[in-house]
Amino acid sequence: MYTDPRYQSTLLDGSLDNAEWFAYDTSMLSPQETTSIRLPSECEPALLERFLKAEAMALWTVRSAQQQDVPPHVYAFLRKHEEDEQKHLAQFEAMIDRQPRVRERLPSVPRQWPVLAVQIYGYESLGLEFARLLLQLRPDLASILDDEEVHVAFFEREIRRLLGGDRAEQARCSAVAWRRKLPTTVNRYLAAAVFDPFRTALAERILIVIERRFTETGLLQIQEKLARNPEIGCG
Ligand SMILES: [Fe+2]
Ligand SMILES: [Fe+2]
Repeated sequence: MYTDPRYQSTLLDGSLDNAEWFAYDTSMLSPQETTSIRLPSECEPALLERFLKAEAMALWTVRSAQQQDVPPHVYAFLRKHEEDEQKHLAQFEAMIDRQPRVRERLPSVPRQWPVLAVQIYGYESLGLEFARLLLQLRPDLASILDDEEVHVAFFEREIRRLLGGDRAEQARCSAVAWRRKLPTTVNRYLAAAVFDPFRTALAERILIVIERRFTETGLLQIQEKLARNPEIGCG
């Protein structure tokens, strides 16, 4: 799930930004934990609206990424990725009977590949968790979940590759910065009133799952390691 960076800093709710707590608890959860919370059917329209915006942002981001200096094999993947997101967006537009939105200028994305890779990996991971939620209400949309798993898996491999090279630190620092904004992003995604009874629990689960993913990939250091060696941090 993507977000427009212009809106990143406008809604700040630090209450969920509790890295220590999440880091210690993440090992106890499976990837399906996000979906252990069952959403009622009244949430479906709000979820579809959220997907409409997120798929559009995903499409524009992936288009914009192709204009950056990315490795050739990444460029090849991004072309297929763009097709997938275009297809997803068209599905949501048809489902909620919305005209395609045009955007005059593509969103700006980071120029440096490690930073861009972390950003796309993060938003695809977030999209995957929302796709799991959507599937509860719309099992007919399973192919979207399948595509999101492919997208996350590709960028996860790229992140591991980056972490084995000389730009690992840049990727790690980007991940710390991206993670700091995540509670705000998740709260905004769950802003519709229909999510009121579920928001806190859902946001916590999503943050746990993504933080664990980032930690297992090696992007985030586990908190115990940080406590022993505070110099690892990115400030
Ligand atoms: Fe998508
Ligand atoms: Fe995607």
